[in-house]
Amino acid sequence: MQICKVKNYQELSRKAANLIAAQIILKPDSILGLATGSSPVGTYEHLVEMYENGDLDFSQVTTVNLDEYKGLAGSDEQSYRYFMNTHLFHKININHANTYVPNGTEPDAEKACQAYNELLHKIGPADIQILGLGHDGHIGFNEPSDHFENETHCVDLTETTIQANKRFFDSEKDVPKQAYTMGIGTIMRCRKILVVVSGKDKAEILKQVIQGPVTPEVPGSILQFHPEVLHTKEGRKMLSNFVYNICGCSGDWKIDSFVEESIKNIREKVGNGKVLCALSGGVDSSVAAVLLSKAVGNQLTCVFVDHGLLRKNEGDEVEAVFRPEG
Ligand code: GLP
Repeated sequence: MQICKVKNYQELSRKAANLIAAQIILKPDSILGLATGSSPVGTYEHLVEMYENGDLDFSQVTTVNLDEYKGLAGSDEQSYRYFMNTHLFHKININHANTYVPNGTEPDAEKACQAYNELLHKIGPADIQILGLGHDGHIGFNEPSDHFENETHCVDLTETTIQANKRFFDSEKDVPKQAYTMGIGTIMRCRKILVVVSGKDKAEILKQVIQGPVTPEVPGSILQFHPEVLHTKEGRKMLSNFVYNICGCSGDWKIDSFVEESIKNIREKVGNGKVLCALSGGVDSSVAAVLLSKAVGNQLTCVFVDHGLLRKNEGDEVEAVFRPEG
């Protein structure tokens, strides 16, 4: 598990968007697991901006959302389908037929969950799953319980969640009492997981999630057992040594200066011509990849080999080698 502390919500959103962008650039037909709630809103704004700037193409992407309120249709402004349409899907070039959210209008819970499970089995695990964190430690709508649910199921929302989410509704009585949510097992089978956590009111529960015992009473704590989790949270200082290590850059973490400095460093090592960049695996190298990919077809031709071969031991600093292609 990696923890990325960032200065503020703006930086949290930019970093999270960079990681998702890296995933899409490295694998244009990526499967993205998406989340709702206020935390990822800024992340989606950045992704839209990257699309508008011509840096991202969503045409081959498939998305699967974590959850939906039972009883709400996609046209309902409080539904998660509506949220996704307005914050992301309607603003990018994604094929809408490839965006999936559980069907909140299906009154038969068993049917709704089975249909979503069949779909998830067909599509396969998400390449990257974005998660927010509920005040009671829920992920998706997996509420505190005495066991972890494996697949999509219908949940009774807890009082804490109803209270936390009533701000989006006209009144508390309008908040649905049940939801369909992807299960913990499905989430844990995703290749990478990116958790975005924002706000002082989440500090205590975040501590329990990352440092406390792994228990279904704090559903997010199961993430401690996932091999590739990156928590991006607001904090005092952001440490992004990995990016600097990869390309020998220092100074402010700004996209343009980073790319410029990286290219200079790589050129000093390999001279002109094509360059093979071998980056050690994990989301950290994906950050470098997305930034450097801005230079592809421009000053550099990069081939990104995203694997863990360069990291000899667990905990080693991220390494990278640059050598002429051939
Ligand atoms: C809802 C969603 C969760 C989300 C949570 C936190 O309950 N089902 O997926 O993580 O809200 O939302 P926020 O980011 O607004 O605190």
